[in-house]
Amino acid sequence: MSSFPKPYKVKVVEPVWLPSAEERARFLAQAGYNLFNLDSAAIYVDLLTDSGTGAMSQAQWAALMEGDEAYAGSRSFKLFLETVQEITGFPYVLPTHQGRAAEHVLFTSLLKAGDLVPNNTHFDTTRANILAVGARPVDLPLAQALDPELEAPFKGDMDLEALPDLLQREHARIPLVMVTVTNNTMAGQPVSLGNVRAVAELAHSYGIPVFLDACRYAENCFFVREREPGYVNKEVKEIARELFSYVDGCTMSAKKDGLGNIGGFLAMRDPHLHERCRERLILVEGFPTYGGLAGRDLAALAVGFREALDLNYLRDRVGQVRWLGEKLNQAGIPVYWPPGGHAVYVNAGRLLSHIPRDQFPGQALVCALYLEGAVRAVEVGSAMFGSAARMELVRLALPRRVYTQEHLQHVVDTLVRIKETSGQIRGLRIVEGEGPLRHFLARFEPIV
Ligand code: F0G
Repeated sequence: MSSFPKPYKVKVVEPVWLPSAEERARFLAQAGYNLFNLDSAAIYVDLLTDSGTGAMSQAQWAALMEGDEAYAGSRSFKLFLETVQEITGFPYVLPTHQGRAAEHVLFTSLLKAGDLVPNNTHFDTTRANILAVGARPVDLPLAQALDPELEAPFKGDMDLEALPDLLQREHARIPLVMVTVTNNTMAGQPVSLGNVRAVAELAHSYGIPVFLDACRYAENCFFVREREPGYVNKEVKEIARELFSYVDGCTMSAKKDGLGNIGGFLAMRDPHLHERCRERLILVEGFPTYGGLAGRDLAALAVGFREALDLNYLRDRVGQVRWLGEKLNQAGIPVYWPPGGHAVYVNAGRLLSHIPRDQFPGQALVCALYLEGAVRAVEVGSAMFGSAARMELVRLALPRRVYTQEHLQHVVDTLVRIKETSGQIRGLRIVEGEGPLRHFLARFEPIV
């Protein structure tokens, strides 16, 4: 599978089951052709998300047992705090139950109706949380990121030509700039440190703070080490410290690069903003030393944050994603290139080019993956983003430390079979669901 040794072996197993073709067809129809509505028991390889779906290490399970469940001032919070402070350098850290809660606390403390928030590309919950306070998310991806076949090292970067223009025209309406690392909506592509530094210099020249959406910062730093000149001999932790040094704070989903099944945080340098956010946190999440988490979650995350920066772990992690991307590419399946850090994105717009965008080619491919192989994936296209969609992609997100090469080979074989009969796959129409989060709840029906 790869040229380096796998840095873990299996200790606990979870049974999985491959339902029959008839069962799959029945389950899918019952789910309204939306795989968010399926029971996990009906799925063989679940690539819906890499969020909260990873396997914890023995050190994390051991830490759980030491969780301190005190309401205030728990030992586990202290461990969590010290770890996050050491990695990010941010003095103020508010734990949250997951990433979107950090977004909610930050945006309701900082934004007002009519404001604008630029980002390289907003994730769906970030976009929805900004819209919910009456502000407007503005995506500034690179033009080259919209070419799924172009090989380039940092297709996740923010467009440094568009940002100065926007800042000059609208700076009075921009309370913060965000950069998402890696850029999930743009096929999990990394962002260079040079780009983050330049974004921060521009924003700071207007006195505007910059926050990272840092969910996958460790994977991003691994790519920086591999691809950005001058970093190959640095430790990932050093690179991370440099990344955070350019910005003023971050939102974090610890369900990704915290290797946790739940958790997140909001961190920053500004004591005044911290005070406002802390009040809001108590209202919606909990006291600032637990913020919606159990003490044991905080304890396991303190261990997970460190493990996620381990070079051998990251080589295996990003290497597994790359292996899947390369296998699919070799089999003639159009995939966004190069593969991202946490997922391979299949170009459904091209694979199912006979299905028009308003009939959701990505969702049609997601359904085909389930019907053909009980594989669950997620559409990142017109069903998720409506008319704001820039590409019709299907994301195969790999949970961390969960699946073997055999599981991934099953995904490759399934897609190869789909490709052979792709002309027979039909589009879908939405029969239920609206708004910026409709993709979670929508129901579809096949167009016959
Ligand atoms: N930002 C990004 C870039 C994300 O990918 C996610 C979650 C969030 C914020 C919100 O974090 O789920 O802990 O509230 N992404 C998951 C995914 C759900 O499947 O990509 P959360």
